[in-house]
Amino acid sequence: MRVIETIQEMRTFVSAARKQGKSIALVPTMGALHEGHLALMRCAKAQCDIVITSIFVNPTQFGPQEDLACYPRDLAGDSEKASGVGVDAIFHPTVAEMYPNRYASYVYVEEITDKLCGLSRPGHFRGVTTVVSKLFNIVQPDKAFFGQKDAQQVLVIDQMVRDLNMNVQLEIVPIVREDDGLAMSSRNRYLSTEERSAALVLSQSLSLAERLVHEGERDIAKIRAAVVSVITEQPLANLEYVEIYSYPELESASTLSKKALLALAVRFGTTRLIDNIILEAS
Ligand code: PAJ
Repeated sequence: MRVIETIQEMRTFVSAARKQGKSIALVPTMGALHEGHLALMRCAKAQCDIVITSIFVNPTQFGPQEDLACYPRDLAGDSEKASGVGVDAIFHPTVAEMYPNRYASYVYVEEITDKLCGLSRPGHFRGVTTVVSKLFNIVQPDKAFFGQKDAQQVLVIDQMVRDLNMNVQLEIVPIVREDDGLAMSSRNRYLSTEERSAALVLSQSLSLAERLVHEGERDIAKIRAAVVSVITEQPLANLEYVEIYSYPELESASTLSKKALLALAVRFGTTRLIDNIILEAS
């Protein structure tokens, strides 16, 4: 497996693969790889000849008060994990390689970035769509793989790809969870033992919502209130948002009809976790 640090070298690697008629998958990540990331890479390997994963802690998607400086970085461990699932190359550029002096161009998706994480993390999605556009331009993959864990991110990138006629097919991979239900995240390692067990309220509250829908509840305010009450009963949980929107449009509704995204963000100490589920009225 190659570890490539420059855009030029990445382009050379990709064009050699293309000349051999190989299909190319891109799995963008910020590293600190876990089973969630590896699931994306395994899917990519099953669908394409060559899998490239980017490992780049993208500064433009972090707010000034966020965890950019202490975001976990472990290229040696990540390389071992990626090569274990058949990744062909890691793209690991420096910040200066991606954002040289006098860098001035950004990609911004309107409207669906105005809610959920877009409200609590101003500028976040602008950073995501900018770096993902750059990665698409550098690698020019046939397919790019993203996790449903970041449900809004998937919708924002999908909107960008459609609006800007980007020639890439998006593939969405289901959320990978720990055995006890906690969604895997690079940020889980920040949690203390007490916070780690308190964080189970996230998946538990989503399961409760799913059960209510299964039992026939269609009143979105009631489903939301049930989720809020499970989370607020946990003293270590600091609720940022719980929202239910039609899916994939992300529009407000009072009654559940067809699909809806139940998404939440909760802080445990300084650690911010997100989780979500698609609710379906059968
Ligand atoms: P990161 O948080 O490293 O996640 C990389 C990819 O892994 C994303 O598509 C994310 O949704 C997916 N992922 C993370 N945890 C997952 C889980 N438990 N189950 C399934 N998929 C999971 O998301 C980013 O990085 C960045 O915003 C990025 C797209 C790389 C742009 O910088």
